Amino acid sequence: MIRALVRKVERVHHGEIVGFRDAWRGVLEDDYVPLDVERCRGILPRGGTILGTSRVQPYQRDDGVDLVRAAIERHRLDGFVVIGGDGSLRAAYDLQRDGIPCIGVPKTIDNDIAATELSFGFDTALHVATAAIDRLHTTAEAHDRVMVVEVMGRHTGHIAVRAGLAGGAAMTLIPEVPFDIEQVCAAIERRHAGNDYASIVVVAEGALPVPGTMEMPEYEVDRFGHQRLGGIGQRIGEEIEGRTGIETRVTTLGYIQRGGTPTAFDRVLASRYGIAAADAAAAGKWGSMVALRSDQIVLVGLEEAEVDEPQGVDIDFYETVAKPFFAR
Ligand code: F6P
Repeated sequence: MIRALVRKVERVHHGEIVGFRDAWRGVLEDDYVPLDVERCRGILPRGGTILGTSRVQPYQRDDGVDLVRAAIERHRLDGFVVIGGDGSLRAAYDLQRDGIPCIGVPKTIDNDIAATELSFGFDTALHVATAAIDRLHTTAEAHDRVMVVEVMGRHTGHIAVRAGLAGGAAMTLIPEVPFDIEQVCAAIERRHAGNDYASIVVVAEGALPVPGTMEMPEYEVDRFGHQRLGGIGQRIGEEIEGRTGIETRVTTLGYIQRGGTPTAFDRVLASRYGIAAADAAAAGKWGSMVALRSDQIVLVGLEEAEVDEPQGVDIDFYETVAKPFFAR
């Protein structure tokens, strides 16, 4: 994304780009690096970001917006291209409303930004999760076990549903649809009473039981007020083994999903977003976000990203792919 943005700005629009380290932290603390085509050589196949990232946001401090304005003046910026998920895009939206020009680029493995069909990073995480499920099948079948796999997905189950489908999971539990642990266990028992001796259960980290039906793990809260999720898979594994007597093991994929080499699909999508963001900035289309719709890159209003309402899994799609397994 950064590489494509820099190339298009420098080579076609004859502009300049300043990269701020660790996102808004770099803007607030004036920690920056000039970005040009030379500096971006070789980054295309690399995951993560050469600029680093952080959860620091301008509105977390009283002088935040003034510091952002000072950065604009100091570096003579036209505006900011903000690459990120709900937190970063929320800041972009608020800053734009406060008169600071921003263009958003949706990047989150959770794929929960509204107004775009895909955020970049999601496809890579999906591949990692699917590959892990493939490996877990082998050992699940060898030992006749239930394997619970916890994947990321704080508010939404996009990774879980697609990896579950691609990996042939017996069932998939997502935040959008509270699960009934009794139903889950009954479905596992039915499977194992038939010809199936192994089951993969994919659980999004934000999955929730029907209220009052299962004890939840206690989540810590980090210094930015975000719950540190992780542990629901373990709880579900304990319930399954306790209730069905079938040996169950749990794997939490965690940060493995957020690293490594991006897929070709993500490289292409990120590059297309970078080119579109450069063009939007050159055309003065601040206040917009680049988005994917029907394989076209389009510009939508930053407000359409609806950062307060994560874009969940389409429930019809979930039921189509998950229900048949429960119904066995
Ligand atoms: O936003 C993507 C995400 O991967 C979530 O699914 C996950 O809950 C969260 O990030 C973890 O973030 P942190 O790096 O703060 O632990």
